[in-house]
Amino acid sequence: MKILVTGGAGYIGSIVVEQLIARGEQVVVFDNLYQGHRAAVHPDAAFVQGDLADRAALDALFTEHRPEGIMHFGFPYLVGESMQNPFLYIGDNVTNGLNLLQAAVQHDVRRFILSSTANLFDQPEHMPIAETERIVPGSPYGESKFILERLLHWMDRIYGLRFAALRYFNACGASAERGEDHHPELHLIPIILEVARGKRAKVTIFGDDYPTPDGTCVRDYVHVLDLAQAHILALYASTAAAAILQSRQRYRLQRQRSCRDRAPGHRPAHPRRDRPAPPRRSGRARGQQRRHPP
Ligand SMILES: NC(=O)c1ccc[n+]([C@@H]2O[C@H](COP(=O)([O-])OP(=O)(O)OC[C@H]3O[C@@H](n4cnc5c(N)ncnc54)[C@H](O)[C@@H]3O)[C@@H](O)[C@H]2O)c1
Repeated sequence: MKILVTGGAGYIGSIVVEQLIARGEQVVVFDNLYQGHRAAVHPDAAFVQGDLADRAALDALFTEHRPEGIMHFGFPYLVGESMQNPFLYIGDNVTNGLNLLQAAVQHDVRRFILSSTANLFDQPEHMPIAETERIVPGSPYGESKFILERLLHWMDRIYGLRFAALRYFNACGASAERGEDHHPELHLIPIILEVARGKRAKVTIFGDDYPTPDGTCVRDYVHVLDLAQAHILALYASTAAAAILQSRQRYRLQRQRSCRDRAPGHRPAHPRRDRPAPPRRSGRARGQQRRHPP
């Protein structure tokens, strides 16, 4: 199958591309390199540098490469940034998604995977979140993903564009060849590793009033290779569906710092406390602190 991966030069997209190619698929990557890296694109994938805002560039891409399926990762996704700049998210991201959907329909593509977000659930009733949980987006970022999910529902009904929307919190980890490299880096695990490598002086953990033993919040992480597999299996299945990807083990942020403290050359600043993590507190971190998913 020939698959178009938007955002395929970014963290998750580049690893999905690598895994698709390992399965013998043909891949074309479309990325504006706003955050991604040309070097992260697998050498066997075709690469087109362009922006999803550019309808003409998309038409040229579809005409030349004729993809049969689309995986959409080309999306800025910072919750805090979306609170400060809602138009970028609800405006640009939705418009870009519409451009992509229009091109997909015009060029008769029948499979679409949206990398969505667990930020669709601001105050979930249960953790792990149930598939039946009521959708209440937690930010303009979450709202923009939800709008795309709704658009996909109509494209499926009207044009038979089969889709899956995968909702998850935090991606983590790397493959043997590719990993996370954002500028500036705002994600906790790469930041912790930068401290362990002596590239950064300290880690700041936001929030100390959560109902956990140390007051730090609980996060859900899914390994990027598991995410890649889930996206690819959803592409092959191509039934209209949405699924939440969650891990069984949740982590308090203090525990992540403990991992850093066990890195060679590091002396723990505080004694380690290995108590089981209680349920994640729903609700927003204080002030302007970023509440991540995505
Ligand atoms: N990283 C996470 O923890 C996480 C969690 C949940 C959902 N997601 C979703 O997964 C997707 C990818 O996340 P990531 O961590 O790989 O992000 P990333 O920033 O590493 O990758 C996104 C890629 O999209 C490209 N891009 C952005 N806007 C574009 C545009 N207008 N036109 C063309 N290319 C564009 C960027 O250059 C970048 O290469 C996002 O849609 C995000 O919402 C990520």
